[in-house]
Amino acid sequence: MIILDGKKTSNDIKNEITEVVQEMKTRGEKVPHLAAVIVGNDGASLTYVGSKVRACERVGFESTMVRMPNTTSETELLREIKKLNDNPEIDGFIVQLPLPKQIDTQKVLMAVDPDKDVDGFHPTNFGRMALDMSTFIPATPFGILELMDRYNVDTQGKHTVVIGRSHIVGRPMSILMGRKGFPGNSTVTLTHSHTKNITQITSQADIIITALGVPGFLKAEMVKDDVVVIDVGITRVPDESRERGYYITGDVDFENVSKKASHITPVPGGVGPMTIAMLLKNTLLARERHLAANR
Ligand code: GUN
Repeated sequence: MIILDGKKTSNDIKNEITEVVQEMKTRGEKVPHLAAVIVGNDGASLTYVGSKVRACERVGFESTMVRMPNTTSETELLREIKKLNDNPEIDGFIVQLPLPKQIDTQKVLMAVDPDKDVDGFHPTNFGRMALDMSTFIPATPFGILELMDRYNVDTQGKHTVVIGRSHIVGRPMSILMGRKGFPGNSTVTLTHSHTKNITQITSQADIIITALGVPGFLKAEMVKDDVVVIDVGITRVPDESRERGYYITGDVDFENVSKKASHITPVPGGVGPMTIAMLLKNTLLARERHLAANR
């Protein structure tokens, strides 16, 4: 059984990006600049955004964190997005999700300039992804593809079962795994809360990508021998005995499923760190595209 080590792989990618940034500096070019907008005080979101900003510093990018209160109106947020769209210093930015109830998420995502949409959530970029055009692939799916690529996981002709149809992970993953090319060329089944007899489907899968947020959902009885398992679930389980007051766990019963798997991602240390590395990669791509457009 091979552990798909997202922590190590993301460090490799960050080192590669650091070298490219050094070369940009040597040529006297502006370095990539990522901004992150966070509305409210959700603990998990603050942790993620903090990690994204720290990752920027580590590779030599500029970064800006825009914090807005929980009471922010939709109009105020749209105004902030327009400022970021119009600011030539900013190469790419993200609006951390989820947003407070009073704000229409779709309206916000539509307001982001597709050329700065390093999350790849704008309908233009999502459509371009589905049509195999150049785009920003959402960071988590992009990270999963990169992890499979670097570990030479064979996807061609395999049956990939995706569990969960979120706009951020399940839905894009189901499209990407079925695309022509590598990683891709899979036969894909997208399962969700209305799927009947899911065990019958998962037990036929060569590759399972689970993004549900239900701890321990995928059990050893649900998978066949030599399955490849990608666990995208990140759930904080309250635990008074830990200093932080919680521990992180995935969707997979790792102890038992790992005994049958050929490859498996751990939680933490699997897909999570890859998401951040690929957000940096998209920001670098945005900088390179802006540079090429202004030549
Ligand atoms: N919330 C959970 N995952 C993500 C992500 O990849 N990007 C943003 N903007 N918000 C998220």
